[in-house]
Amino acid sequence: MKLTDQEKSMLQGEQGRAKARAMDLLVRYGEALGAERLVETNNVAGAFNASTPSVRELAKKGFDAVYSELNLDSPEIVEVPHMVANTCQLITGIDNERWRIQGISEDLADQQKQAEAYFGRRGINMFATCTPYQVGNVPVKGEHCAWMESSAVVYCNSVLGARTNTEGKESTGAAALTGRIPYWGYHVTENRRGTHLVEVELDVDDIMDWGLLGYYLGEIVDDEIPVLTGRCHQPSLIKLKHFGAAAASSGGVEMYHIPEVTPEARSIEEAFGGNAIKDTLQYGAAERRIAYENLNCATDRNVDFVMLGCPHNSIDQVSLIASLLEGRKISLNTQLWVHTPRALREVADRNGYTSIIGEAGGVVMSDTCPAISRHMPRGTKVVATDSAKQAHYLPAITGVSAWFGSVRDCIEAALTGRWNGGLA
Ligand code: F3S
Repeated sequence: MKLTDQEKSMLQGEQGRAKARAMDLLVRYGEALGAERLVETNNVAGAFNASTPSVRELAKKGFDAVYSELNLDSPEIVEVPHMVANTCQLITGIDNERWRIQGISEDLADQQKQAEAYFGRRGINMFATCTPYQVGNVPVKGEHCAWMESSAVVYCNSVLGARTNTEGKESTGAAALTGRIPYWGYHVTENRRGTHLVEVELDVDDIMDWGLLGYYLGEIVDDEIPVLTGRCHQPSLIKLKHFGAAAASSGGVEMYHIPEVTPEARSIEEAFGGNAIKDTLQYGAAERRIAYENLNCATDRNVDFVMLGCPHNSIDQVSLIASLLEGRKISLNTQLWVHTPRALREVADRNGYTSIIGEAGGVVMSDTCPAISRHMPRGTKVVATDSAKQAHYLPAITGVSAWFGSVRDCIEAALTGRWNGGLA
């Protein structure tokens, strides 16, 4: 791999042991990928937390040891300096305030808070959400980033037109300290062109339908790049957030184009950029039903737990949930958790949404989600959610069964304790 003088200086340890370890990792990683060089980045979104029981022993040696091992793959414990790149924390396993409701132990919650304080002082911004683009981290078109978290990556590439691969804990840890990431994959213009044309033959408008479309397409195209045409109504941040998260769950979609909507596709021709179309897919009522049935694995209509906010809810989603719950009470047999970034929970508090949801018997949570934390209300067997991603992962990870539907279906399930959703 070709390195600049500045990069060689970091690798040789002239700028400290942490940067030497970080550069060593990036060179090994880049060479394994066949990258010929690194690219500068000033936007890193990674996981720098110590919120799992498995990190307990390591954390006893201090948070330099945690970063060295988990974020730099370094056998040597290095002192962690201030980050070079703008860096933010993605989602964690623990809500710093509601950890008791999650069923997290106090010592683990303390460990996370101490880690946050340590890494925060070193320049890692504690957004603690899988949707950094909802709380101020909005890279511009063409900006090279180093992001983890599949739903954020597909949003970054497709909707924002910024450039990132799906990075890991180690590569983001190294990128944050060096301002570099291997130049390959989605950093390269030629790799961002469409591969599959998707003709949408029925109206896709609400959030649930965008989730179903994404879930269906992910299974078919896997990690290739679909280009959507047809009856996709003007999407919004929320709809594209759900679409991308679903496509990145059932498959490995990291980028898509919607001509006249996403920034690298003013037309179908531009979306393909001269690529031959590998396949043309139709999405109609039969495909929509397949996606719906694949997501709804539950048979028991008694719902123990309703999870809303995967990816983390925007403030208007929290507002809608509050309006649907106002003056009502959720079933004694059901629990409701509403997940939103911590910065937006502050807004929800000030707007009174948190109180309305709380008075109805629900909880507004931040910093985490059940799929990441592996924590749900005790005894949960059946979950209902408006997220294709959460409906995909929770059964696989925790063994619960899932219902997937609209936010209204889910609120109805929370109020009655029964699932009555279905395809219109
Ligand atoms: Fe975010 Fe957790 Fe869903 S990380 S995208 S809320 S599975």
